[in-house]
Amino acid sequence: MTKRRKLIVANWKMNGRISTGVRLASDLADKMLNNRLGASDMVLCPPATLLWPIAEVLAGSHIHLGGQDCHTANHGAYTGSISAGMLVDVGCRYVIVGHSERRKEYGESNALIAQKVTAAQQAGLTAILCVGEDREIRMAGKAEEFVADQLRASLPEKFQPSSLVVAYEPVWAIGTGDTPDPQDIDKMHRALRKSLGAMGEVVQILYGGSVTPQVAGQILFLSEVDGALVGSASLNADGFWAIAEKAG
Ligand code: PGA
Repeated sequence: MTKRRKLIVANWKMNGRISTGVRLASDLADKMLNNRLGASDMVLCPPATLLWPIAEVLAGSHIHLGGQDCHTANHGAYTGSISAGMLVDVGCRYVIVGHSERRKEYGESNALIAQKVTAAQQAGLTAILCVGEDREIRMAGKAEEFVADQLRASLPEKFQPSSLVVAYEPVWAIGTGDTPDPQDIDKMHRALRKSLGAMGEVVQILYGGSVTPQVAGQILFLSEVDGALVGSASLNADGFWAIAEKAG
């Protein structure tokens, strides 16, 4: 069995200006230079306006850069959108797709997200595909079935497992301070890995939703959890670094 590396991803969402973003990235780059994370990788996904200055800060730091979303097309008349090729151009290795905030705010469907996975992989990016149930589905005891279906429907017919990361992010845990019981996370990750079949051995499955330095240890300790997608706690260098250290 191949050992999957741990991956710790910062999702800054729509936060930060050049001054604060560059400071945050520099602090993390310094920490990385002095400590290095043994068996894990770190990715920062700042807003698009900060990608270029942060790419310069991260050069040679072993911290990777990622986008928060991409369009399905590579270029064209799509006002306000950014393509996967543009993300590569600015130095990204990763892109988040299908985040629940985009599914909800922009009405993104599973089918559209599957096209984004293809666009990302064709451009040479690793797609971090987000899935997760809302509270109602969790309460109804249908979370595992729902999320496995959502994952299947958000994946294109053909994809490269080596450039796919799945992030299980229960919608009710995002930004709320609530996290599922570790055994529920473990169960969900097992169900997702099973639904990926043979590819499940290769694909990293992250947990996301209110990950803080306080709860990171018990979540990242789970053998089925290959890392974390971190929102608010990633806006503080010490806090985010503390989470990354828990990944070993
Ligand atoms: P949170 O966000 O850590 O602030 O809950 C996670 C996410 O939305 O990816």
